Amino acid sequence: ERLDVPEQPLNIPPLLEPDRETETDTYYTLVAQAGETQILPGAKTKTWGYNTTLLGKTIVFQKGKHIHVTLKNELPELTTFHWHGLNVSGPIVDGGCHAPVYPGETKQIDFTLDQPASTTWLHAHPCPSTAEQVWHGLAGLTIIKDDVEAKLPFPRNYGVDDVPLILQDRRFHEDNQWDYHADYDPDGVQGPTAMINGTVNPYFEVKTQKVRFRILDGANRREWRLHFSDDLEFTQIGSDGGILPAPVRLTKLMLTCAERAEIIVDFGQYHEGDVVTLFSDDMPIVNFRIGKFAPDTQVLPGHLVDIPNPEPTPGLPVKKVVMSGMDEEVMLDGQKFNMQRIDARQKVGDVAIWEITNTNQMDGGMVHPFHMHGCQFLVLSRDGHEPYPNEHGFKDTVGVNPGEVVRIKVWFTLPGVYMYHCHIIEHEDGGMMAQIEAFDPEH
Ligand code: C2O
Ligand code: CU
Repeated sequence: ERLDVPEQPLNIPPLLEPDRETETDTYYTLVAQAGETQILPGAKTKTWGYNTTLLGKTIVFQKGKHIHVTLKNELPELTTFHWHGLNVSGPIVDGGCHAPVYPGETKQIDFTLDQPASTTWLHAHPCPSTAEQVWHGLAGLTIIKDDVEAKLPFPRNYGVDDVPLILQDRRFHEDNQWDYHADYDPDGVQGPTAMINGTVNPYFEVKTQKVRFRILDGANRREWRLHFSDDLEFTQIGSDGGILPAPVRLTKLMLTCAERAEIIVDFGQYHEGDVVTLFSDDMPIVNFRIGKFAPDTQVLPGHLVDIPNPEPTPGLPVKKVVMSGMDEEVMLDGQKFNMQRIDARQKVGDVAIWEITNTNQMDGGMVHPFHMHGCQFLVLSRDGHEPYPNEHGFKDTVGVNPGEVVRIKVWFTLPGVYMYHCHIIEHEDGGMMAQIEAFDPEH
């Protein structure tokens, strides 16, 4: 539902400035904080964020640099800082359920990223209140840069032609407040109003012919089926874990919870003063006001990046995962999550086939977005068929449709205990989650 409020300029989350930086190391301070945000006219909404009152400042990491982060919790309850999509190890660093930071507490973490340029994100993960904390606003964008991506002819002027779109939905109650408990649904909380980067009814002024969007489904349960008002074709260049091997032309893009897509939109066919709208189904997402821009005739190469595709380790059984149930009955492999229990083991460096089954009925069943910590995987097949054309790159989340069997190829580069779960966040909190130990026999 379109709230009867004036259009607002799309909020662009500011970049998080490092505390200091050397040739080899970068230092940040991250603060989880509560505040108030002017989202609608009238009363401000009580919100949470990282170094800001709602969502987060965008963090840009350079691959290979040693990153140091001071985590501070200024919230009234415990939280964790989970790096969704980063191949980092150790409970405190990964920021899953095992890594509480208590109110008033400060913790130090450090890691070095050895993974390709991509759009990832940071969110709270304190099981079982992940969903509520993300709903309050604890979700921020993180961007990894590397030398390979830097050579590709992509827009990269942040906020101008390289623009984040964090897709969320909310219900605004009395005095413009959110009420997680009033809206609670064990199959995932939704709201009727789209909120993009924390903006309701946003417009964006297009100042260059081509704009790259880094799109994140940051909703608790909503899937987005994105398309332009006039079915304008656009080009997907990236998935969760990196740039795609080849650009993919699309008129419709579906994202499930936690998935990301990088797309380039060519607005060249429009004229100054035109407005073109991005929709999800029939919900307006962003109005693009076309401004004046210089013609851009650059063509994307047919090949973008090489994706390593290691052979499965001989002799390894297929690791089967079953996602079952709805509402309170959701389970992974027939059981609920237990933080004390390790559910699976895989040797670091081994390449295993995982087979994820969604036992929900085809009609009326839910898509379960299957997510793994600590790795980026490759999608091999859906019900024995080729994955979608835009699934040929690294993924950390894959939507498993009702009744479907999805095969993926999984390997870990760092030893550690990693969670895997449904990313409908209420399902995750409801126990549709397990954990695997990636072990290194040498250590
Ligand atoms: Cu996006 Cu276990 O997380
Ligand atoms: Cu689910």
